[in-house]
Amino acid sequence: MVVYLGSTTMDMIDRIVQLMHRAKRCVVLTGAGVSAESGVPTFRGSEGLWGKFKPEELATVDAFLSNPKLVWEWYNWRRKIIGEVEPNPGHYALAEMETLFEHFVLITQNVDGLHRRAGSQDVLELHGNINRNKCLECASRFPDDIEINPDNIPVCPQCGGKIRPDVVWFGEMLDGNTINRAYDESAKADIFFSIGTSAIVHPAASLPVEAKRSEATLIEINVDKTPLSYAADFHIEEPSGQFLPILLEKYKEIAS
Ligand code: OAD
Repeated sequence: MVVYLGSTTMDMIDRIVQLMHRAKRCVVLTGAGVSAESGVPTFRGSEGLWGKFKPEELATVDAFLSNPKLVWEWYNWRRKIIGEVEPNPGHYALAEMETLFEHFVLITQNVDGLHRRAGSQDVLELHGNINRNKCLECASRFPDDIEINPDNIPVCPQCGGKIRPDVVWFGEMLDGNTINRAYDESAKADIFFSIGTSAIVHPAASLPVEAKRSEATLIEINVDKTPLSYAADFHIEEPSGQFLPILLEKYKEIAS
């Protein structure tokens, strides 16, 4: 496939590539937009999940307590979508970018596991992973390869609590070690990419701000403007699955 980018974007690519060559520490934050070209629905926007479903009925502890069957049906539906899709060229480009820098970490809000499937190694999954199971009460891990029947939800062998998906729901704390490392990495970054995220859900949304405050170059790749666009050094308005492979090629061209 040949992708044509506007001349402004092409000019920005050259400048970004130069900055990438100089940077030692690169941090990437991704959101649902990175997986959109794989066929995973985003949350916001006209076709987003939160336009069709109510988060308070599906993605909170209270929702699970009052209707665990409905919650599991919804997560099984999302698991099925995710199980049927493949990483897209954007995921693969990011996996390859990991090899370009002295230090690289990928922070994602996505629970779909597509970055790891594409080969990324150092991935911080801020919001968990939809394919994992854990106990609602004691948080013990439960085997992931067991299909959950919403009419007969298994219970934890340790404490008898109901098994739930290992994702972060609204109102829940993120894993402390994961978010602390994400802050630390962001504060030390020379170059920070915010890709395919609406940049409004905290604490993830404060990571690019932290990086910028610590004088990293901030690059946003998104098909739309976000509240971060005005603070970014570069705002690239292109689909990440098309733009990232081109950026990578340009990097290699200039490197050789
Ligand atoms: P959103 O659905 O809020 O935002 C997706 C962003 O991706 C939007 O800004 C789109 O413009 C952009 N986008 C869509 N397609 C794109 C493409 N092909 N290339 C580049 N950008 C594209 O998703 P997140 O920001 O990830 O949390 O949402 C953050 C959190 O809110 C999620 O992790 C989830 C949700 O509620 C929890 O469930 C805890």
